[in-house]
Amino acid sequence: MHIVGEDLNMLIRKIPSGHIIRDLRNTLIPSGEVGEYIKSMNSRIEKIRDSERKSHTSIYSSETLYSSDSWLKKPIKTVQELVPHFKGYNNLRVLDLGCGVGRNSIFIADKFAENGCRIDCVDILDIAIDKLQVNSDELGVSDCIHVFVDTIEHYPIIIGTYDLIIAVSALEHVESKEIFLNKLREIRDGIKTDGIVCLVINSDVREKNKETLEDLEPQFEVNLSTKELQSLIDDVFSEWKTIKRTVSYQEYDIPRDDVTSHLTTNVVTYVGQKL
Ligand SMILES: C[S@@+](CC[C@H](N)C(=O)[O-])C[C@H]1O[C@@H](n2cnc3c(N)ncnc32)[C@H](O)[C@@H]1O
Repeated sequence: MHIVGEDLNMLIRKIPSGHIIRDLRNTLIPSGEVGEYIKSMNSRIEKIRDSERKSHTSIYSSETLYSSDSWLKKPIKTVQELVPHFKGYNNLRVLDLGCGVGRNSIFIADKFAENGCRIDCVDILDIAIDKLQVNSDELGVSDCIHVFVDTIEHYPIIIGTYDLIIAVSALEHVESKEIFLNKLREIRDGIKTDGIVCLVINSDVREKNKETLEDLEPQFEVNLSTKELQSLIDDVFSEWKTIKRTVSYQEYDIPRDDVTSHLTTNVVTYVGQKL
């Protein structure tokens, strides 16, 4: 939760002095320091979002969807594998959270446009949504694509609406663990019977300055351990049929301000079906 200005002052006044409170990571904070603590949390989120905005803007403005050597080269394999599950569906309803320039949603639209298909695409960045619209026009699927410049945390998921919800490398960018968990529950509840959820989430992320090997703060708002992430997913989707549940170690370089960061991560993939 981003708390600023008057709201922040009101919150601080409500906490009696001399109390110790606990944050979501179990850090103890004396009540007198809550104001500073919340400000530092807000500034951490702002810093991460600024860094993410710069790295995404750079790639979205320099690389072309499906004809690039970057990760925009093709839809992810896990999304490609979902197509047979929806064979024969009419009017497929899909939600793509943190959709970027449409790497996965345009692929799905292309496969299902003939039988009617609506994909709600949400991204925090104007440039992602602008490029998504251009790409979907060029690839002839713009009728299926509905765009929202919004945050994942703010975008409301209406209960029982979707046949498929995907969130690829996006949910770890909500503001806090608490919001992350609530969003997982909202995603679960937003799916129709027989519908599918496809989540790809980074965990245990570490970043190091590539030159000096100095540790850098991972630019991920929510950086859970792999074990905790899997346990949260297992709890929220406990009644569902698991189609895929994998962890894959990955490492790559990423530009961060004026340094190159070497990033290592355990990417957790979960595909589940509501019975
Ligand atoms: C690594 S990219 C992945 C894009 C897309 N899912 C794909 O697989 O090509 C992450 C995307 O999530 C978006 N994003 C990050 N934080 C977000 C948030 N809080 N709400 C909405 N979108 C967010 C970024 O702007 C970016 O386009």
